[in-house]
Amino acid sequence: MFDSTRLLDRLHSRQARAGVVGLGYVGLPLAVELARSGFVTTGIDLDARKIDAINRGDSYIPDVPSSDVRELVSRGHLSATTGFAVVAELDTVNICVPTPLRKTKDPDMSYIVSAVEAIAAHLHPGMLVILESTTYPGTTEEVVQPLLERGGLKAGVDFFLAFSPERVDPGNGSFNTRNVPKVVGGMTPTCGELARALYGAAIDTVVPVSSPRVAEMVKLLENTFRAVNIGLVNEIALMCDKLGIDVWEVVDAAKTKPFGFMPFYPGPGLGGHCIPIDPFYLSWKAKQNGFEPRFIELAGHVNSSMPHAVVDKITDALNIQRKSLNGSHVLVAGIAYKRDIDDIRESPALDVMGLLHAKGARLSYTDPYVSRLAASAWPGGYELWSVSPDRLPILSIDCLVVLTDHRAFDYDALAAVAPLVVDTRNAIKRTYPHVFRLGAPKAVEQPARPSSELIAAPGA
Ligand SMILES: NC(=O)c1ccc[n+]([C@@H]2O[C@H](COP(=O)([O-])OP(=O)(O)OC[C@H]3O[C@@H](n4cnc5c(N)ncnc54)[C@H](O)[C@@H]3O)[C@@H](O)[C@H]2O)c1
Repeated sequence: MFDSTRLLDRLHSRQARAGVVGLGYVGLPLAVELARSGFVTTGIDLDARKIDAINRGDSYIPDVPSSDVRELVSRGHLSATTGFAVVAELDTVNICVPTPLRKTKDPDMSYIVSAVEAIAAHLHPGMLVILESTTYPGTTEEVVQPLLERGGLKAGVDFFLAFSPERVDPGNGSFNTRNVPKVVGGMTPTCGELARALYGAAIDTVVPVSSPRVAEMVKLLENTFRAVNIGLVNEIALMCDKLGIDVWEVVDAAKTKPFGFMPFYPGPGLGGHCIPIDPFYLSWKAKQNGFEPRFIELAGHVNSSMPHAVVDKITDALNIQRKSLNGSHVLVAGIAYKRDIDDIRESPALDVMGLLHAKGARLSYTDPYVSRLAASAWPGGYELWSVSPDRLPILSIDCLVVLTDHRAFDYDALAAVAPLVVDTRNAIKRTYPHVFRLGAPKAVEQPARPSSELIAAPGA
């Protein structure tokens, strides 16, 4: 049995060598915080471009300033590599690799399995391994532990194992890796104590729970809570559309209640690597155990119908101007999955654009964070480049649709250049007769028919 006090001392004195596997939106900010708190930290990623960038002192994650990376690299506190051999020299390793869904909506564990197998090849007595990737309850003990134990070392005895969910919110100016409380569940009390000591050095508040399984479930409760409430408000928005009530005004008034209500806002659908995916990890695990979850499936159904509702709204709005969607030029403002970030993973904008393309619309987009949309990244199958808002007046757009409410957009300027606007985020605050909002009554005044289209009355 390994004496854990040695590792505990090394963690308290910051002499422990830390490692982070997977240097994306979660892993790079964590590696930077660990390095900043005094641990000599090594990041490991299969993507050589990310490794080169870090070792040059460049950040590729908007929330992490390059100046921070540069300083930590130059002080020798942060480095990166594509090779797992360095694991032999590390005291701790945090795993932050992707956990996507397969097409069947089953968990894709291949990234976790391959990262853990690579770590297992260099696992040594006294090491602390923490899984951070969002996953179904039971993963740490049912998947990670057996892979690590293949070499003969025992978890909780020879090495230490924990799960700690990541709660990073890219683009959030107030909350970051350091000041968001970190939930930690160790496989044994000693595993938990060591994991708390690591995070306690780098993160303001650590919240211990009794097991990895509880910590895994905490993350899924949080993300399912969001998915279900977004599903609810999306359904209310569709209802309001039919009832002629402005859902945005309703939510704004409801949120004045000082207790028992939390505002969620409608939109074109769910996006990102978490909310559209994680609840299905839970759903899959529940079904494996003979439990049929209903809220998750229902919310998924409503949320995935939203791109269709947006296309219907665009079609209706064009119809009022006596135009068909087929052949119309639709400009999409914002294709990232949420405001002020560059991430297009699972973005509902891609679904909306795919549906518009399938119905014959001509498409272009503007997004200050996403300069290029690869042909393979959306159902239309051709490459698009973001157009500068300055060029909009010369583009002969039929309809502009706001799908992501980036703060960088000048919404009044956008409304001024487009003959018709569909706003799915309530981003345009002034009232214009040619702006239609998701979940709100149609504009009071209908835009005048262009005089060129008026048929002269007989004898006129
Ligand atoms: N992005 C978010 O907002 C967010 C928030 C909370 C939790 N999470 C969870 O954190 C995990 C990571 O998400 P992310 O957004 O950082 O993903 P990401 O795609 O940005 O980064 C993952 C990184 O892992 C690397 N990688 C993949 N397989 C690897 C392997 N075998 N060995 C080493 N590196 C490997 C990839 O090259 C990539 O750089 C996921 O489980 C996700 O659900 C993400």
